[in-house]
Amino acid sequence: MKINELSAEINVGKGVFYNPKMHSLRSISTAFLKANAPKGSRLLDATSATGIRGIRYAIEAGIKNPVLIDMNKEAYESTLSNADANGIKADVRNVSFQEFANTSGERFDVIDIDPFGTPAPLIYDAFKISKDGTLLMITATDTAVLHGAHANACMKIYGAVPMHTELCKEAGARILLGFVARNASQFNYGIEPLLTISDMHYLRLFIKVNHGAAKALASVKSLGILRQCLSCRYFDYKYGISCIGSDCPSCGSKMSVAGQLWLNRMHDKGRIGDASKALAQIGDDEAAKQMQAIEKELDIPFLYSIPKLTRSIKSGSVSHKRVMGFLLKSGYSASETQFWKDSIKTDAPHSEVLSAVKQSRE
Ligand SMILES: C[S@@+](CC[C@H](N)C(=O)[O-])C[C@H]1O[C@@H](n2cnc3c(N)ncnc32)[C@H](O)[C@@H]1O
Repeated sequence: MKINELSAEINVGKGVFYNPKMHSLRSISTAFLKANAPKGSRLLDATSATGIRGIRYAIEAGIKNPVLIDMNKEAYESTLSNADANGIKADVRNVSFQEFANTSGERFDVIDIDPFGTPAPLIYDAFKISKDGTLLMITATDTAVLHGAHANACMKIYGAVPMHTELCKEAGARILLGFVARNASQFNYGIEPLLTISDMHYLRLFIKVNHGAAKALASVKSLGILRQCLSCRYFDYKYGISCIGSDCPSCGSKMSVAGQLWLNRMHDKGRIGDASKALAQIGDDEAAKQMQAIEKELDIPFLYSIPKLTRSIKSGSVSHKRVMGFLLKSGYSASETQFWKDSIKTDAPHSEVLSAVKQSRE
């Protein structure tokens, strides 16, 4: 089946994976590279399937001679013929990422990892072919695990307890960042998240890897514990693994605890701004809208769902935009968030958010 996706025309062979709904995420990745990957960057697409990513990265972001690998034979053949049909010079190989990382002897500037489900089994090996400054782009589609529907699987795979509430998507992204940071530190790398995206059934991380023992240590020290009250929706978090108790300081109910997870910045707004400009040239409106929304989002941990808060105080519904308005008028910062519908991120304390909710009803 022939498919056109922005600059590329590909043939999707039988048994080879291609999801048209992921076009905007591919456009965002392309724009991110166009804006941020230095000229001459060496790129590895570790899970190429049809080859669509590597092909678009070559045509639209100017990546020269990408290495495109897939362990599936049909995917390899599909990548080979699609690269050729699009006039892309690429090094295409039929090999597993693990074998490649342990034998290639090359270190890459950009590594794209987009497997089925969890990327966890590939992350450790990614650091064997990384160097100071490498950009890792990682997709996870095992969101049922990271978002807490399967808590035992999350503990087993990611070594972290998930949060199965309105904080689940952000906690899941932060658990995945924490997992990457712990793997990176074994190779004396620290991580610097540049862009974190949560949408539909996936999470996508854009991470710069920085070499050095101090950076690795600072990175693992950025992990900690989150707790949330399921009654009044108060939450807080603390770095490290120290015991923080489970009684809610606001209403005294028992709190749910999650972690360890990443508690520092999830984005570099400067780089997102540059990628947004590059996206405008690529011409994918859906992707551009998604990036603009992330650009406006406050980069601070966790959120308040306004419907959950109104339920906790047995009030009728209020608009989250109206609550934001009251907080902004009181001098706090507040924004919408990609991580939950009708929710806000704010630097206001829980008590102030509650009073803004109450004011919004009047
Ligand atoms: C979700 S698809 C990739 C989709 C592609 N990146 C895109 O945007 O269309 C996952 C691909 O990764 C390949 N794959 C999974 N695990 C792999 C591994 N360990 N090494 C190499 N390829 C792998 C699968 O064969 C499959 O073709």
